[in-house]
This record gives sequence, structure tokens and C-alpha cells, in this order.
Amino acid sequence: MTQRKILITSALPYANGPIHLGHMLEYIQTDIWSRFQKARGHQCYYVCADDAHGTPIMLKAQQLGITPEQMIAQTSQEHQADFAEFLIGFDNYHSTHSEENRQFASDIYTKLDKGGYIKRKTISQLFDPEKQMFLPDRFVKGDCPKCGALDQNGDSCDSCGATYSPTELKNPRSVVSGATPVLKDSEHYFFDLPAFEQMLKDWTRSGSLQDEMANKLQEWFTEGLQQWDISRDAPYFGFEIPGAPGKFFYVWLDAPIGYLASFKNYCDKTGVNFDQFWQKDSDAEIYHFIGKDIIYFHSLFWPAMLDGAGYRKPTSVYAHGFVTVNGAKMSKSRGTFIKARTYLEHLNPEYLRYYFASKLTSNITDLDLNLEDFAQKVNADLVGKVVNIASRCASFISKKFDGKLTADIAEPALLAEFTAAGETIAESFEKREFARAIREIMALADKANQYIDAKAPWVLAKNEATLTEAHLVCSMGINLFRVLMHYLKPVLPAMAKEVELFLNDELSWSTYQTALTNHSINVFKPLMQRVEMTKVEAMVEGSKENLQPTAAVAPKTAETKAAPAVDSAENAIEPIGETINIDDFAKLDLRVARIINAEHVEGADKLVKLQLDLGNEQRQVFAGIKSAYQPEQLIGRLTVMVANLAPRKMRFGMSEGMVMAAGPGGSDIFLLTPDDGATPGMRVK
Ligand code: 2FM
Ligand code: ZN
Repeated sequence: MTQRKILITSALPYANGPIHLGHMLEYIQTDIWSRFQKARGHQCYYVCADDAHGTPIMLKAQQLGITPEQMIAQTSQEHQADFAEFLIGFDNYHSTHSEENRQFASDIYTKLDKGGYIKRKTISQLFDPEKQMFLPDRFVKGDCPKCGALDQNGDSCDSCGATYSPTELKNPRSVVSGATPVLKDSEHYFFDLPAFEQMLKDWTRSGSLQDEMANKLQEWFTEGLQQWDISRDAPYFGFEIPGAPGKFFYVWLDAPIGYLASFKNYCDKTGVNFDQFWQKDSDAEIYHFIGKDIIYFHSLFWPAMLDGAGYRKPTSVYAHGFVTVNGAKMSKSRGTFIKARTYLEHLNPEYLRYYFASKLTSNITDLDLNLEDFAQKVNADLVGKVVNIASRCASFISKKFDGKLTADIAEPALLAEFTAAGETIAESFEKREFARAIREIMALADKANQYIDAKAPWVLAKNEATLTEAHLVCSMGINLFRVLMHYLKPVLPAMAKEVELFLNDELSWSTYQTALTNHSINVFKPLMQRVEMTKVEAMVEGSKENLQPTAAVAPKTAETKAAPAVDSAENAIEPIGETINIDDFAKLDLRVARIINAEHVEGADKLVKLQLDLGNEQRQVFAGIKSAYQPEQLIGRLTVMVANLAPRKMRFGMSEGMVMAAGPGGSDIFLLTPDDGATPGMRVK
């Protein structure tokens, strides 16, 4: 295998808040991939940094009465401690507020300017006359210009869903000081993104982007690329733009440049050749792992900036979805907005690494951390299957054979099957199909356990005549376990280390195919405790916050991670899921319908076939309400249906809409029934 040169990054977390489990998905995904590449013998580096600039960071430090430098130093320590405990193996962790980053940012900007890619334009923005600062959209509040709702954000109305510019707000006020903002002109610097359209299109087609991302880019090309405002006026915590006193780089300009800066910082410490990775004709591979909310920055601005400044572009950008907890957005009131630190106070980090791995694919869909499923899966797979193999075989070998494995392998064919799976498992890891890799590994773990069950070494060991066979079976079991732990090592590095101590062996991709024979192992110590639901519950309790109104200077801003959005609803019966905006809602055509016929469906245990009258037309709908209603009971009743749902072909015929019902299921399903007097076809508002 040829050795590849690979540089991997995760998105840089903002230096004004703690790491939470939404972040951890990304660091765990990237770390597994990086550990895997390293295990395969590639020259691979994984770097990251804190994203330290911007208005929210500046204001938060002011609020705390410390300098931004003090605040970001403190946050960086906390972030790094969290990452270390989650076993995130960065080769380097740096900061965007660093000398390297200042140099790269200035240099890239200067090159872009020389290339004619920086435009200057005077724009008019809201300005806080008290604080003497321009206000980003989310730092202005006021009444909605469309519906008049009070106290709305500067960019959109929570009440009617309208989006607008902050200058349109009625009775605007600054979130920072409460003063009434005034309009003020200032010259801004813009990066000429449209000039890179052709290059970006070619890059998009060059192959390695996820389909969803390529499609998204296609949409953006169709909408048309825009000039990007990269400057902010003082006061701003960031780097001053060369030759433009009082103007600073917008945080998102120097954030991705932080990837270069962190890697450069690493290269300077270690002698690795920076240019080999970043120069235009480099044969190294560069991958950015990011969340789906920041694709625009990484797939348009970033490659264009690199290209315009004479650097190579990333090989690919890999986006993942958001984390939901128990099927809903992470919520502070429900205790599902879980900080990395809170998790670590209660649970073993490798549980989460395993759980995320067992659900991660290469696409952008969200990942649900269902806490019951989490406990159940970790217990069943890791404790019940994997560790179980070793614990059933080890003590016998220690007690009766002085810790020594047999000279022969009892079932070479079975062992060969385990090692042969290595290449397909590796392929799954390579393609970021971790869930598939885990499924393959667990299928093998099942086989190993079946083998041990069938041979029952504990019975063989009772009889002197079959003692040797018991020894062979247990040695075989240990060898199977060793192969599996080798595959799991990128996911479970700490447990793998324990296993290496236990086996007196290094789990390495170059040696796992050779069995351990005539080899001494050490006394087995329990490798992993079961997840206890009480600890999970304690973690949720520990995450519950009594929500105060959001602190004045920390609104969710465009510059703050939009990641797993947090809702503040108090406990409802069931978590309210993702929000939709008014436009989504307006798309639903809800109508009153009369059920004119209802009948059983042959061969379907949940469905009732309904004939619905909408006044001027009839629809056939299959509804999953059989557990709650006898068809006869339904005939003649009014209900509410989604009338513009695309017809769906079901096994039993076409379903042309959906009726609305509430309830948890089983016999507790309640069809929505308008009062008498409503007439079929009426719109439901
Ligand atoms: O969205 C965020 O959390 C940003 N701090 C990510 C920056 S990634 C890179 F561009 F620096
Ligand atoms: Zn409104």
C-alpha cells in the first residue's frame, strides 16, 4: 500500500462557549477517521484550533470584565480538557488569535487584493451611538415590520416568520446598550466570490464531494454567487486589515485560515513540510470535517480564497448532520443540551464514541442520541458481546495454563474469516460508513460467542480428558477477540490500550493477521462497565437549566454556532420536534372531510381504508388507526385531512392524503373531529 499524506481538520469551535454533545459528534467522527488513517500507516495529521474572533466574543469578555485574550485563553483550556478526555487525538490545537494566523490572513488578503478580488463599497448599517459600534443583525431588536410583534430579532420574526433587514424594524433598539440605533455609512471590503464561479463549479464536479453537498452547491450557483463582506469596523476583536486602519477581518475570513495556522504551528514544532501539503501542485490530501450549517463557508468562500491566493484546494469537505437527543432538538429545559463536561462527570467517553460510530454514515442526515437506545446498545454490543468473549476465555487460561495460549489454532478457518473481513471493514471506515463497519464487527462478535457457546469450554474444563480442548477453545476465543479489538481500536482507543496490556501485544494493522500462539497473556481485568440508566438520568438532571431570559450580550447570532438549535420549551408531554417556519406551515392544505365509507383492509393489521368526501371531490386514504377504531364507528364522522399530500402508492392501493389524529398509539389514537356545522371541503386555519 502506498503511503498517503493526509491532513484532517474539524471545524474550529468558538471560544465563547462550552463544547456540547452536538460538537462532539464531529470531533468523534473526525478522530475515528484520523486514527484509522494513522493505523493504516499513512502520514496523517489532525489539527484544530479555537475560533477566537468576532463580536460575540468581544462583548462576552466585556460582560465578564476581562480582556478577550483572557477569556479565550480560559476557554481554550476548557475545550482542550474536554477533547482530551473524549480521547480526541489532535496532533495540534491552536487558536485563530495567533501570530501564524495573523500572517496567513494578511498574506492571503494581500494576494487577493493584488489579484483584484477585493472590492470596496460604502454601505449603510445600524450603529449604536452609545456603544459607538455597528450592530450585527442579531444585536438589534424591535417590532416586526410585517405583523408588529414586539421584541423581534433583527433578521426575522418569530411570530409571523417574516425575514427582513434590521433597518426595517420598527422601534429598533440595540441589544448591547438599549439605545436607539442610527444609520451610519462606512466603507466595507468585499471578496469577489462571483469571480470564482467557474473554478468552483469545476471543483464541485471533481468528484469527492458528498452528493447532498454537490446539490446544495448547484442550488447556490443557480441563485447566483454574491460579493462577500469581509470587513468589520472597530471596535472588533480580530485582526486589523493591512492598510486599512480601524477595519478588521470578519471572523469568518480568518476562521478557516486557522486550519493553515494550526498546521503551520505544528510543522514549525516538528519539522513536517508545510508546503508539501498546501502548495498548488501538492499530492497530499486535505479534508475538512464540518457540520451541515457551515457548508457555504467551506465549499464556496474557502476554496475560492485559497485559489485566489495561490494555494491548493481541499480534497474534500465532509459535512455531517446535527445531533438530536431523544428525537428532538437539544433542549436546556429538558436537560438534553448536554455539555461535554457534564457527560464526562457521569459517563465513560467511549460509550459515546461507540454509540456515535454505530450510527454514523457518510451522509448529512441528523443523528439521534436516544438515551435508552444508547445504554442498551453499548451494554448489548460492547459489554455483552465483545468484552464477553474475552471474559469467558481469559480466567481459565490464567488459572490452568499459566496465562499461556496454545501453540495451535483450533479453528483456522474461523479465524481466517475474521481476518479476511479486515479489508471490507477498512473500506467502510475509509468511506466514513462507520455504522456499516460496526455492524460487520458485531456480526463477527456474534459468531465468536456462538463458537464459544457451542464448545462450552467451562464444561470441557471440568474433565481432565478434555482439558486440552478447553485450552484450545479459549485460546481461539482470545484470538478472535484480538482481531475484533483491532478493528475497534480507532473507535475505542482507551479500551484498546487496556486490551494491549492484557494481551501483551500491540493491536496493529500490520500484525493482526498473524495469530497469537504460545503467547503469554496477563490477568484479565474488566474492560468496560455497563451503562447504568441512573447515571444517564443524573446527567440529564445535571444538564437542566432554569432558563433565564437570554443574557443581553449573548443572543444567538449569525456568528455563533447555529449547530443543534436549542429550544427552551418547558416540559411538554412529548418533545416538540424541529420547528417549521410560517412558509412551511402555509404549504399545508388542511381540509374538513366527511368519512363516507370505512372498511378493513385485507392483510393489513394497522390500516383502515377510508373514503373521504371533500365537498367537490372524494379521496381514498389508508389510515393507520385500526388499533383504535372499528371502521363502522367512523362512517359519517367529520375529520381533518391534509389534502395536498402527494398521493402515495401503497401495497393496497393509492392513498390520496392523510387524516389527522393525536395520541401515543395503540388504542390511544384520537382522530381529529371538527364540531358539527363544519362542512366538507372547508379550509382548516
Ligand atoms: O460554526 C462554528 O462553530 C465556527 N466557529 C466554525 C469555524 S470552522 C473554520 F472555518 F474555522
Ligand atoms: Zn412578524
